[in-house]
Amino acid sequence: MIKLNGKVTDTLGFFEGNDPFSLIQMYSSPLYVYNERILRQRCRELTSMCFYPDFAVNYSAKANSSLAILQIARQEGLYADAMSPGEIYLERAAGFPKNKIFFVCNNVSGSEMNYAFFRQILISADSLSQLELFGSMHPGSRVAARLNCGIGTGHHEKVVTAGKKTKFGIDAELVPEMIAILEKYDLKLVGINQHIGSLFLEDSSYIDSVNALLSLAKDFPDLEFIDFGGGFGIPYEKQLDQGRLDLAKLGEKLDLIMYEFVKQYGREISFMIEPGRYVVAEAGVLLGTAHSVKKVGGTKYVGTDLGFNVLARPMLYDSHHDIEVYRKEDIPSWKTEAVTIVGNICESGDIIAKDRQLPEILENDLLGVLDAGAYGYSMSSSYNSRLRPAEVLIRRDGSAILIRKRDILEDLVKSQLSIEL
Ligand SMILES: Cc1ncc(COP(=O)(O)O)c(C=O)c1O
Repeated sequence: MIKLNGKVTDTLGFFEGNDPFSLIQMYSSPLYVYNERILRQRCRELTSMCFYPDFAVNYSAKANSSLAILQIARQEGLYADAMSPGEIYLERAAGFPKNKIFFVCNNVSGSEMNYAFFRQILISADSLSQLELFGSMHPGSRVAARLNCGIGTGHHEKVVTAGKKTKFGIDAELVPEMIAILEKYDLKLVGINQHIGSLFLEDSSYIDSVNALLSLAKDFPDLEFIDFGGGFGIPYEKQLDQGRLDLAKLGEKLDLIMYEFVKQYGREISFMIEPGRYVVAEAGVLLGTAHSVKKVGGTKYVGTDLGFNVLARPMLYDSHHDIEVYRKEDIPSWKTEAVTIVGNICESGDIIAKDRQLPEILENDLLGVLDAGAYGYSMSSSYNSRLRPAEVLIRRDGSAILIRKRDILEDLVKSQLSIEL
């Protein structure tokens, strides 16, 4: 095997000596591959970024809720947030204790709230009406609330989750009404949280939003914790040496803010962050196969099995993922060229990389889509009745183990009922 542009995975030692072709032969293409060492390293960077003693990292499981990934995050001391009863179920299955799960739900039914409530999992209300619903069902209980302080950020408008143009959180202007609901139902507000958006590499908006949240916090006397949210970015353009988020500097800034806040508040409380992508994105590479190469209207298309059913981010957000090219035989590519890499889904938008300068790709080459660990498998689907891929974990001793089986054709019908004709 040769890697035509394998600088990133080689530098990271990503495959730990495993041959991507052997992995594909064993588990079929496409395939999600995770590296346990890198995953643990990212977890440790986050848990050690602040000196404040009661600082916790809530892993946002929507980024990747595969059981083995959750288990490792838990063992590394992360807590977990959940968006749905399904995520709570998975987190419990991965061994997270109930007091380390935080249900940061959005527009849920009373019965979904109760799924969390009766498992003693703390719920954050994301609107006045959800707080009202919770209060009417469980007066006198502990609750948290997600606030929207008006500052949002993100790599795409679809992932900006605070500010005037999103559905999330209780508008800071509505805090008096929120307090009235808390009083009406004798609710104890033990936590406030926010999440301003995803993928910042420069921390100024995040810090501004933390300050904004804390300026509201002093009005709530019963707080046990404040959760600043996630959104910590990773460099998706590593082949161009894009810089990393300066986590140490962000940690220092947060420390100053947290110590100052508790002085003013009069007692120590817990602080949390809620990252998803930072934990797991760089620990994942998606492998796929080039099945055809053709030209249409002057554009060279490389047709692969990497449709948006497997990795939705490029289609959803025009996201960039670096791509490496691996070849089974020792045949070098003599030129680089602009190609558009597409999947096998019947939609013209099924594009994973547009006009990308890459070494010439031949049929049967493997492509390694980098930084695919977050919002990769968790957003995958069986659209076009395609089978979702397997997931493999490369352990620290270099062994590659299966952590999720590839779908089989029977999965396409297993929950369906045929009718009588
Ligand atoms: C409430 C909440 N918290 C945390 C996250 C994690 O964001 P990221 O993966 O960018 O850190 C999200 C992502 O959408 C979210 O909605």
